[in-house]
Amino acid sequence: VGEPDLTGRHVVVSAGGTREPLDPVRFLGNRSSGKQGYALARTAAARGARVTLIAANSTLPDPAGVDVVPVGTAAHLREEVLRAAADADAVVMAAAVADFRPVTYAAGKIKKKDDQEPEPIALARNPDILAEISTGRIRPGQVIVGFAAETDDVLANGRAKLKRKGCDLLVVNEVGERKTFGSEENEAVVLGADGSETPVPHGPKEALAETVWDLVAGRLG
Ligand code: C5P
Repeated sequence: VGEPDLTGRHVVVSAGGTREPLDPVRFLGNRSSGKQGYALARTAAARGARVTLIAANSTLPDPAGVDVVPVGTAAHLREEVLRAAADADAVVMAAAVADFRPVTYAAGKIKKKDDQEPEPIALARNPDILAEISTGRIRPGQVIVGFAAETDDVLANGRAKLKRKGCDLLVVNEVGERKTFGSEENEAVVLGADGSETPVPHGPKEALAETVWDLVAGRLG
């Protein structure tokens, strides 16, 4: 456990993956386990912060001393992030937010009809929460951190994304079939809007979380 350098600070962490319902039993979702977000919440609490963890569809146990807010959809996640961010010193968006949602929700289970082709699923774009809180900046001095999973040109794509989103730090990880999702370990580079580049070698998700909080604490002064 590091020093309690986040004492008196309120930090918000989003974790897990959103699910966008098609009908009462089906959804569009992703493979995020929530482990990195939970590691961020645990380590921030150990460093003295008051932590709000906005957890999208995670089955992980609530970390001790952390205020956990369960959410389902991207719209629900957005609502809770905006609410909690209003008095937060830092916001870390570790959740995998669905980029799109089905346009219509069927109140009853969608049935397959015997001699008919399936209907295509029409999608609408979800709001980009990270970009919204970063460009909207409701609290001066607030440090905002995003995550990006990239499969190629990791650094170049990360730099472009950092700029596009307008956040202060972007944790970029390379993803592949056996990398990152559901695993206990991670490997990343943390890019700063100030041009900094902090490599985090392959290791436990806690280690990456500690590096994120080191960089956040440095920017909070
Ligand atoms: O654009 P991309 O999905 O790669 O960006 C990932 C980052 O943006 C993550 O920090 C994620 O939590 C955030 N995000 C968001 N709202 C979305 C999509 C992604 O806040 N609709």
